[in-house]
Amino acid sequence: MNTQYPEINKKTNIVFFTGAGMSAESGIPTYRGSGGIWHKYNWEEYACQDAFNIDPQKVVNFHNIRREKVAACVPNSGHVTIADLQNKFENITIITQNIDGLHQLAGSKDILELHGSLWWGRCKKCNFNINLRNNFNEIKKCSKCSRWLRPNITWFGDALDVAVFQKAHNAILNSEVFISIGTSGIVHPAAEFPYLAKSNGAYCIEVNLETTRLSSIYDSTQIGSAGKILKELHHTFFDRFIK
Ligand code: APR
Repeated sequence: MNTQYPEINKKTNIVFFTGAGMSAESGIPTYRGSGGIWHKYNWEEYACQDAFNIDPQKVVNFHNIRREKVAACVPNSGHVTIADLQNKFENITIITQNIDGLHQLAGSKDILELHGSLWWGRCKKCNFNINLRNNFNEIKKCSKCSRWLRPNITWFGDALDVAVFQKAHNAILNSEVFISIGTSGIVHPAAEFPYLAKSNGAYCIEVNLETTRLSSIYDSTQIGSAGKILKELHHTFFDRFIK
């Protein structure tokens, strides 16, 4: 493991790029690997616009079950460590592929939700967005046109929100330290982010339970759970530079 960490200070541009493994210790299943959601459910039936067009009730029910499960989960020590670091460093951006809202619940700010949020519904026709956190079981259709509200998340085949993607891209271009946590690096365009960070000179750290297909890009891959490794990074990497 390369631990020749670069010098940093309070103003260093730092990006945390998080995936499903970030929330695993909160009890939210990942998508792939053992216990992964896409082993149990065929995404073609539940997580694409075609499935929604064919049977919106089935797709919304699936997401409401997920909402119920996620609503019972709380941020883990990894989320809390990142929120804590944001109070100590001035330029930390969080780019997350997660739709669960746990970074926000941990108190983080400047969060770019690349794949949207489970807590919002959207009417494609009226372009009407509504927060469903407290009433997703009651509100299922658009109040303007009565069409089914689709979850405001990025399904397979969907384009990313251009404005969010652009902000994420810019944050990575400016990043001096890029730390990815709990992502398999399989889904594009997010899978290109470590390349972008590395080719622009950022020091890149990967945190995962195992090596991934992108591990060779990183300056350091740290094997272990997000909560444990983030705590260690807090002490071994970040704390040394806090004045
Ligand atoms: N700590 C750190 N890493 C973990 C932990 C943990 N406690 N638990 C699992 N992991 C790692 C796994 O080893 C795996 O590499 O997290 C990764 C999870 O990978 P995926 O399930 O593929 O999740 P992610 O990369 O976020 O998926 C990207 O795919 O289906 C889409 O839209 C969905 O946002 C999702 C996207």
